[in-house]
Amino acid sequence: MTDTPRACVIGNPISHSLSPKLHGYWLDRYDIKGSYTALQVADQDLEKTLRELPAQGFVGMNVTLPHKMAVLEFADQITDRATLIGAANTLTFKEDGRILADNTDGYGFIANLRQGAPDWDPKAGPAMIFGAGGAARAIIVALADAGVPEIIISNRTRAKAEALRADFGARIRVVDWVQAGTALADANLLVNTTSLGMKGAADFKVSLDALRPETVVTDIVYNPLRTPFLDAAEAVGCTAVDGLGMLLHQGVPGFERWFGQRPEVDEATRRAVLA
Ligand code: ATR
Repeated sequence: MTDTPRACVIGNPISHSLSPKLHGYWLDRYDIKGSYTALQVADQDLEKTLRELPAQGFVGMNVTLPHKMAVLEFADQITDRATLIGAANTLTFKEDGRILADNTDGYGFIANLRQGAPDWDPKAGPAMIFGAGGAARAIIVALADAGVPEIIISNRTRAKAEALRADFGARIRVVDWVQAGTALADANLLVNTTSLGMKGAADFKVSLDALRPETVVTDIVYNPLRTPFLDAAEAVGCTAVDGLGMLLHQGVPGFERWFGQRPEVDEATRRAVLA
């Protein structure tokens, strides 16, 4: 490792990313001589960027939209979970010049739930997911790995949910978006992976009245922190876990690999990122 290891997040656009704040906070907190920056990278510059950064002292990077799938093409080693998800969010530049690609989104999702809802037992019943995009894919892989017996997917465009069932098999049940409410009572965990409720996006309007209060509910939207979806779940009496923790926890494996320190995700970390 170089004396002052460097890491970054790449994406396009990238200015909205909270990762520089998160990793910058951890570098300060653990008094590590290193840096973490944001780099806007256009599609046509992706390969060149990946080839050039290691020589400049970079030991790894986080990857966000639109490059999460494309980076796999340039990786020399891909973890099983990144292969299953079909996308990577964490790259490590090894000393022998090889690029290791991992996907820690699902890890971050589960770690956030375990912290926010410690009594949640993945094996105790089905998980229901709203949405069928890239985030849903990572979460399905993580839930299946955690031993969830059945995953119910409801998405506005049913064909995308069917495609996930084709990829991930029998453990998945697809429910029509307009009938999503009918499956809510079966759920031991309910997850929103759609952009509904996000600042600037459409409101979340599916009624959650059929939920049981024992169901744990989580949103991957974290802007705003308290989404209408989580408010509706709390109105039923459910434990509601916000999505910021998923972002924070997904950063842990990369930081540990690059800077040699496993960082904490706690109230101080949340405050630092929200400041
Ligand atoms: P990500 O990779 O973060 O999951 P995405 O692939 O753009 O993002 O997926 C966004 C999800 O939000 C999709 O499931 C999308 O539904 P469609 O597959 O039908 O597009 C869902 N979504 C976005 N806007 C929506 C809306 N107004 N009503 C219902 N679902 C919506």
